[in-house]
Amino acid sequence: MSSDNFQSVLTETRVFPPSAEFAAAARVNAAKMAELRAAAAADFTGFWGAYAKSELSWATPFKTVLDDSKAPNYRWFHDGTLNASYNCLDRHLATKGDKIAIRYEGEKGDTRNYTYRELHAEVCKLANAIKAKGIVKGDRVVLYLPHSPEAVIAMQACARLGVIHSVVFGGFSATALRDRIEDTGAKLVITADGNQRGGNVVDLKKACDEALALGCPSVEGVIVAKRTGHAITMKDGRDAWWHEATAKLPADCEPVNVEAEHPLFLLYTSGSTGKPKGIQHCTGGYLLGAMLSAQWVFDLKEDDLFWCTADVGWVTGHSYVTYGPLANGASVMIYEGVPTVPDAGRFWKICQDHGVTIFYTAPTAIRALMKSGEEIPNQYDLSELRLLGSVGEPINPEAWMWYHRVIGKEKLPIVDTWWQTETGSIMMSPLPGATPTKPGSCTQPLPGLFADVVDEMGEPVVGKTAGGYLVLTKPWPSMLRTIWGDNERYKKTYYGQFPVRPDGTHLYVAGDSTHRDEDGYYWILGRTDDVLNVSGHRLGTMEVESALVSHPRVAEAAVVGRPHEVKGEAVCAFVICKGVRPTGDEALALIKELREHVAKEIGPIAKPDDIRLADGLPKTRSGKIMRRLLRSIAKGEEITQDVSTLENPGIVAQLAGKA
Ligand code: PRX
Repeated sequence: MSSDNFQSVLTETRVFPPSAEFAAAARVNAAKMAELRAAAAADFTGFWGAYAKSELSWATPFKTVLDDSKAPNYRWFHDGTLNASYNCLDRHLATKGDKIAIRYEGEKGDTRNYTYRELHAEVCKLANAIKAKGIVKGDRVVLYLPHSPEAVIAMQACARLGVIHSVVFGGFSATALRDRIEDTGAKLVITADGNQRGGNVVDLKKACDEALALGCPSVEGVIVAKRTGHAITMKDGRDAWWHEATAKLPADCEPVNVEAEHPLFLLYTSGSTGKPKGIQHCTGGYLLGAMLSAQWVFDLKEDDLFWCTADVGWVTGHSYVTYGPLANGASVMIYEGVPTVPDAGRFWKICQDHGVTIFYTAPTAIRALMKSGEEIPNQYDLSELRLLGSVGEPINPEAWMWYHRVIGKEKLPIVDTWWQTETGSIMMSPLPGATPTKPGSCTQPLPGLFADVVDEMGEPVVGKTAGGYLVLTKPWPSMLRTIWGDNERYKKTYYGQFPVRPDGTHLYVAGDSTHRDEDGYYWILGRTDDVLNVSGHRLGTMEVESALVSHPRVAEAAVVGRPHEVKGEAVCAFVICKGVRPTGDEALALIKELREHVAKEIGPIAKPDDIRLADGLPKTRSGKIMRRLLRSIAKGEEITQDVSTLENPGIVAQLAGKA
C-alpha cells in the first residue's frame, strides 16, 4: 500500500452498520457472532470439533480434533476419513439433485448450466477416465484449464479418487507450467485446446506441449478438453480427448475415502525466493474452513447465485468457486473471460442476466471498472444483488465507496475479506449481518480465529492502536499443512520468524504489515517481504529477477514495486546489461524483448511495467542492493536519503534518469 493510502486509512472515520433488514434475515447477526466468539474462546477445540461434525459427512468419524504434538505441523481430525467430492456432490443429490450447481457463460456469450446431478455424473465419468489411466490415491495431476466448468469437474474428479490436484493458472507460461509439473511429479495433465480470453484464443494445448517438451519425465498422459475447437496437435499414445476418454464410461464412481489429513491439492504461490512454493492443503480441515467461511461471510442461502470472479487457478477460485459453495450445496456463476469484453459493462450484464445475488471480486477489477465511469453499471438492473465482497489486496477507501454507492446503491453490505493461499479460507472479514464496516478495513478475525499485531521481536504491540506484523496466534483447520517436499522451509517461512512464546504459542507470520485501530479493526497495509501484489496476484520480486537474468543480455536485475492506480502495484525492473549498455532505439528494442522474455518465463501478469537499463545497482559496501532506494526511484520521489555510504553513489542519479 502506498503512503497515501496509509494516510487515508488512518484518517478514515466512516462506519457503516449492517441494515436492520439484512441483519434480521442473516445467518449470523451480532448476537450470534458474539455467541460464536465466546464459544471459541471458551473451548477452542470443542468449537471446531462441533462444526466438523455438523457440517461435514464423515466415512469414519474422527475422535481427535487437534493434534499439536508436532507443532507447527498441526493435524486436524486426523483419525477421521471422508471424501471431499462426496461432501460437495453426492450428499446433495437426494435433496438438491435438480438444483443448479453451476451457471456458466463463455466470453463469447455461450452458456451452459449443470444441476448437481449433472455435475455429479460428469465428475464420475472423468474420475473413471483418470482411474483407467492407472492414477491412484496420492498421485498428482496438474490441471491447466480455462476458467470453466471443466476445471471444477476435474478438481472434483481428482478429489473423488484421493488424487492430489495442482491447478496451474492458464495465464502462466510453458516454462512456469513445466516447473510446477516437475515439482509435483504429476503423472497426468488435464488441459484444453484453448480458451477465450480478452477477445483472443489462448492456446493452452500448445503451451502444455512446450512444457512437456522441456522436461516433465513423470507425465504419462494428457487429457484434453475441447473448448475453442481450433487445430491442435495430439501426440499418439500420450494425449486423449476428454470427450472420447469419458464417452463410454459409467456416470457413477465410488468415492475413495481418505484420512482427513490426506492432501487435497497443491497450489503454487510466490514467496521471497525465486522458486514458487507448493502450498499443501488437506481434505478435512480445508473443506471445513472453505464451507463454514462461505456460509458465514457470504451469508449463503438456498436461492442465492454466488459469483466469485476469481479464476480457479488461484486459491480464491478453489475455496469460493469449487469447494466452499459446493460443499454448501449452493449455485455458483462461472464466467470464462475478462471484465472488459466486449465492454466494461460485462460483469454487470452477467449479474443482471443471470440474477447474481452475491458478487465477490478484487479491488483491481473495481478500480478498473470505476475508471470507465458509473454510467456503465447504471445501465444494468443490479437489483438482485444483496451482498458484495472484495479480496486479494487492500481496497482503498475510494474504491470501497464507489463499490458501495454505484454497485451497492448505498444499501448492500461489503465484505472485505483478508486471507492467503496459505490460510485456505477467509481469516478476517466482516460478517454482513453483524459487523459495522469501515471502508478499507477487513475488520476482525472470524469466530474461531485469532490474530495479533507484534513488533520486530514478536512481542504483542499493546495500546489503543497498534502497528506491526500481522500474526495468527492459534492454528486453524484450513491452514496449509506444509510446503510440498520442503517441510523445513514451511517451518522457517511461517513459524520461524519469532520465538515460540512461553505458553507454547507458535506465531504464524502472515508476511503482511497491519494497523489495528481503537475498535480492534485490522487495516492491512501490504507485504513485509519481497512479494508484490499485482492486480491481486502475488509475485515474488526474486522470481521476476531470475526470469530477467535468464536472458543472455542481462547481467543483473533488481525488481521492486511502485503504486499503480488500477493494479495496486506495478513491476519495476532495474537491469544491468552484459557488455556495453545499449541506448536509443537499441535500448527500446531490448526493453521490449525483456518484457516478452518475462512473459515467456512466468506469464503475461509478470511483465515489468517499467524497465530501466543502468550501469549498476545501488549497493551497500557489503554488496546488498538498497531496495528502499530503488522503490523511491521507481516512484519518482526526490532522493533525500544519505547515499554517501553506497559503494557506487553516482549510480543513483543515473537510475533516476538524471545523468
Ligand atoms: O497481502 C495480503 C493480500 O494478498 C496476500 C495473499 O495473496 P494470495 O496468497 O495470492 O491470496 C490472495 C487471495 C486470498 C495477503 O498476504 N490480501 C489478500 N486479501 C486482502 C489482502 N490485503 C488486504 N486486504 C485484503 N482483503
